Amino acid sequence: MAVSRSSKRNRLLAFIFATVVAALALYVFYKIEPTLRGYLNARMSSRPAAEDNLLNIPKLILWSLLAFLGVRALNTVLFDFVFRIRRGFEAPTLVRNVFSLVAFTILFVLIFNRIYTEVNLGALFTTSAIFGVIIGLALQDTLGNFFSGISLHADRPFQVGDVIVVGQQKHTGVVEGITWRAIKIRTFQNHVVLVSNSNAAKEAIEVCPRENLNARLVFFSTLYTDSPAKTIHVAREAVRDADNVSPKITPIVRIRNLGESSIEWEIKYWLEDYAKYNDTDALVRQRVWYALRRSGLTFAFPTRTLHLERKVTTRPITLEEQIADRLSAVDVFSPLSTEELRQLATATVGHVFAPGETLIRAGDKGSSMFVVHNGRVEVQVAENGRPRTVAVLTEGNFFGEMGLFTGEPRTASVVAIEETEVLEIGHAAMKQILETNPDLAESISWTIAERKASLAAGSQQAAQASIEESAGLLSSIKRFFGLR
Ligand code: CMP
Repeated sequence: MAVSRSSKRNRLLAFIFATVVAALALYVFYKIEPTLRGYLNARMSSRPAAEDNLLNIPKLILWSLLAFLGVRALNTVLFDFVFRIRRGFEAPTLVRNVFSLVAFTILFVLIFNRIYTEVNLGALFTTSAIFGVIIGLALQDTLGNFFSGISLHADRPFQVGDVIVVGQQKHTGVVEGITWRAIKIRTFQNHVVLVSNSNAAKEAIEVCPRENLNARLVFFSTLYTDSPAKTIHVAREAVRDADNVSPKITPIVRIRNLGESSIEWEIKYWLEDYAKYNDTDALVRQRVWYALRRSGLTFAFPTRTLHLERKVTTRPITLEEQIADRLSAVDVFSPLSTEELRQLATATVGHVFAPGETLIRAGDKGSSMFVVHNGRVEVQVAENGRPRTVAVLTEGNFFGEMGLFTGEPRTASVVAIEETEVLEIGHAAMKQILETNPDLAESISWTIAERKASLAAGSQQAAQASIEESAGLLSSIKRFFGLR
């Protein structure tokens, strides 16, 4: 957990204050010791050993306090600076605590031996067998946890930030810390689970390290009538550019079983951040749904066909009419007659894309254009390796015309902002329309010129050049479509 700057400053001030007070108290005590000794001498009538013992108690306390503060300071320097800089991660709390305990015990014994020269501290502990038994029994569990904790640290099977599955109840979550007593895990329901070190040491622990490319499996089923080769291609391409799917290893799509009524598939993919596997599994399933639907592949599920008799009083609006309606709202198609719009609508193919999916990739070859039927997309160009949005297109806007009309590679990428349905118009359908409406080529060439200028907006010269170039654009479009 990150400690805030102001709390760090407060702790430093408290530390300095305590050190100064302890050192001053010690100084004052040594100064007034002869006076105190004289006073006690007068009251206790010549028992120097008892006086010494009494006067040594504050000394022992003050020196121990200074030793404690010194150990804290050494701990901070060693672990917060040296260890973190050299190893690149924070030292485990358990290691820090063991270090402090050992250092303080050594200092305390040294101070004690120096102040009470006639008392043998070692003998005091070693001869007290009963004391040992009591401590041993009382601390049985604690010591078990403590030593298991030490062995966990020595082995380093996992680190803070790794995902682990531990215990018979299969507790799963991100490791937040390892203390004297337990491993602290934050589950994916945002609960904290403490698994005692001694229990963890007895159980198998599944570790998914943060620095490792961990894989997941997601399952789905298709009908036997669908081609396996096509399903593999479609599902793999749908998954590979989803968020958090590692681009370093291409996902694998394979048949895991030929089931009773379906082909059962598994997708194996690798994650960048394993802690987000629930979201990523869900996104992968969503991508597969959209991709299968676009490609005409079908999920297998028990189906029943019901034929309902409907009393139709008015003629229902057909899908074709809806599409023709949409196309009539596209500005460049406004000169087309109702019949031509209907013809064009018949020739279009509808596709649905999930939010975040790429419809067109810059640099690809493409011989069709698209009209946004529902939803929104953004047009992106790469700038210093990062995508920059140059336009947002909504219902009735079109894109992909540059590739279709010039035969050149796609000039930009187009990505769905929300669930988006587009209508694809291919080369053949467009050629038919252009033959009866040659003016369309001119209005489209203007849009292309404007968009090219906007793409070159970074440089004035390039923008000017692309507007001038638009004069030649119309003739090259006509040539490309074989028009006179
Ligand atoms: P195309 O080059 O075939 O593929 C990418 C498409 O993005 C491109 O056609 C245009 O339709 C569209 N596009 C490029 N630049 C812009 C822009 N400035 N404004 C709107 N759309 C654009």
